[in-house]
Amino acid sequence: MVKTCSAAAVTLLLGFSHIRAEKELSPESTSVQLIFPKEFGEPTLPIDNKLTKERISLGENLFHDTILSIDGTVSCAACHVEEFAFSDDVDLSRGFEGRLGKRNSPPIFNLAWKDHFFWDGRTRTVRDQVLQPIQDHLEMAANLNQVLNRLNRRKSYREDFKKAYGPGEITSETLSLALENYLLTIVSGDSKFDRSLEKKVKLDPLEDEGRKLFFSSHRKGGAGCSECHSGPHFSDFTFRNNGLQPAPDLNDFGRFGITGKEKDKFLFSTPSLRNVAITSPYMHDGRFENLTEVIEHYNNAAHETSTLDPKIKKQGLQLKAAEKKALIAFLKTLTDPQFIDSSK
Ligand code: HEC
Ligand code: HEC
Repeated sequence: MVKTCSAAAVTLLLGFSHIRAEKELSPESTSVQLIFPKEFGEPTLPIDNKLTKERISLGENLFHDTILSIDGTVSCAACHVEEFAFSDDVDLSRGFEGRLGKRNSPPIFNLAWKDHFFWDGRTRTVRDQVLQPIQDHLEMAANLNQVLNRLNRRKSYREDFKKAYGPGEITSETLSLALENYLLTIVSGDSKFDRSLEKKVKLDPLEDEGRKLFFSSHRKGGAGCSECHSGPHFSDFTFRNNGLQPAPDLNDFGRFGITGKEKDKFLFSTPSLRNVAITSPYMHDGRFENLTEVIEHYNNAAHETSTLDPKIKKQGLQLKAAEKKALIAFLKTLTDPQFIDSSK
């Protein structure tokens, strides 16, 4: 969701980051202003990678190009499929030679408002994030130098990179910046629920009952979902243990794998619930097929470990059948139909 404007006419509202300042954009480049719902607040965009039309379209091409994988069979879009809000529909994503990954592919949108990426938060910027799947032996399994050689040999890419980042070799830096530029422009915030807040539509009675359950504490007879899935992104973007039984075969300790701290065992990044109806299967390992199974998880007793989040009701929510139905109806109002449409 972006609007293009001429470079001279627009002063971009850019946040500050730790990165070096960028050279002046070339006069041929077309600045782009990110359009987003007011309630998201200003995102912290990198000051050294201003959004331009040339960069976004280059990043989008790269995202869909299998040139980034070792054997030319896997693109980013293979696991981040637009019609599923840039997630995929399998529990563990398959990459190079069909190798099974360890985790479920998350949807991609509103990254400009996040300050950590991956289920365990192991990277802090989109540009650091994007080179990982290319080199991951389970995902694209490529050697970065090999990918850069291939890109540098392709005339069309040489030209497109020149337009986007000026003359010179295509480097891992410009590759990651182009992907970052594109990914930061993927915005979703126009769901039925958003429209109901703007009084453009009304939630039906079942959806509205679900909304009340979602937003009220389980201490008051609600479902308490918004205690963690809070704010305009339906996530507070913190790491938490929501009481899943660890999958014995995956040996995945979540955030603990990065920090080594006992208190982080089985903590995973709280996902946004925007577009949740179209991002099945669910959880870091894709263990739940559908939203009914997700609700059953919260409805039943949680798997208790010392790191279980205090906001999880240990004995389970014990919702009635009608309440579960209402909650699911509400979750379905978080789908942004225009987002899926416009990304086709
Ligand atoms: C084989 C499937 C696969 C391919 C190919 C793939 N990804 Fe992913 N992607 C994943 C999985 C699985 C995760 C979550 C991994 C984790 O949390 O450890 C992920 C996570 C991400 C995230 C983090 C989202 C967030 O909010 O935390 C971004 C961004 C992303 N991928 C972008 C890309 C880009 C760009 C490419 C191409 C260069 C790519 N992916 C290629 C499967 C894939
Ligand atoms: C204590 C904080 C917390 C509460 C309360 C909570 N969740 Fe979650 N939720 C999480 C975390 C953390 C994850 C990711 C867990 C993982 O994959 O290991 C998650 C994952 C999910 C997912 C999977 C999303 C995806 O993309 O895979 C859904 C759906 C979900 N929660 C819905 C709900 C609903 C509905 C409620 C209320 C009944 C709720 N959550 C209450 C923290 C919470």
